[in-house]
Amino acid sequence: MFVRQNLTTCDSTNSLALAWAAQDAPHKSLITCDVQTHGRGRQGRDWLTCFGSLAFSFILRPQIEIEKAAQITLVTATALLQALETLKLDALVKWPNDLLLPDGRKCAGILTEAHSTGDKLDAVIIGIGLNVQRTTESPHEYGFLSDIGYVGVKAELLESLLSPLEFHFDHLDQPGHFAFCLSYLKERSATLGKPISNGIALDINPDGSLLVQDSQGKISSMHTT
Ligand code: BTN
Repeated sequence: MFVRQNLTTCDSTNSLALAWAAQDAPHKSLITCDVQTHGRGRQGRDWLTCFGSLAFSFILRPQIEIEKAAQITLVTATALLQALETLKLDALVKWPNDLLLPDGRKCAGILTEAHSTGDKLDAVIIGIGLNVQRTTESPHEYGFLSDIGYVGVKAELLESLLSPLEFHFDHLDQPGHFAFCLSYLKERSATLGKPISNGIALDINPDGSLLVQDSQGKISSMHTT
């Protein structure tokens, strides 16, 4: 069970979660928000929360090394894809944190942030933005689950995501769990075998980094933040 705070409006559920994590938020806290005014994406980008979109953030206090915090993005992507699969909705993962509709439009993003003291991981914040129901104002270039047949409202969808997410969060430190997630994601990858900014994505390494071959044939690993 998650300890929940449901808000009508806020700047960013991840910013609130970081502030709550610095205080007394328990492991497995969840903040949801109907309207996010300053949603944040990876690499300092803005995240526009549309009317028919979900915005929510978890606070976990996992017993894992700080270097492994970034792997939680891939575990979260696995949980989301599995939940969508149960609803007969096909989506793909674009390494490391985007979910795409089969036509390539992005329908969800994950922003994982760590709250640490020195080199000790105090908490991990996992923010999820997911476009559910398109409205007349929704930009065409954004993918929505309603574009591929989802007819429920966003609150319903959130409920169906929680148990797969909780299952995966509860298994973070279980041997073999991350390897399972990677093999699941490799089957549903929009990245592997495709050109990316600095080459061709060849594989996802066992630590979750991306194996890339550049135009000179040099192979290196790209790590997520
Ligand atoms: C990305 O694609 O760059 C990640 C987007 C993450 C957006 C979500 S919405 C809920 C949570 N609060 C934020 O400010 N960001 C994340």
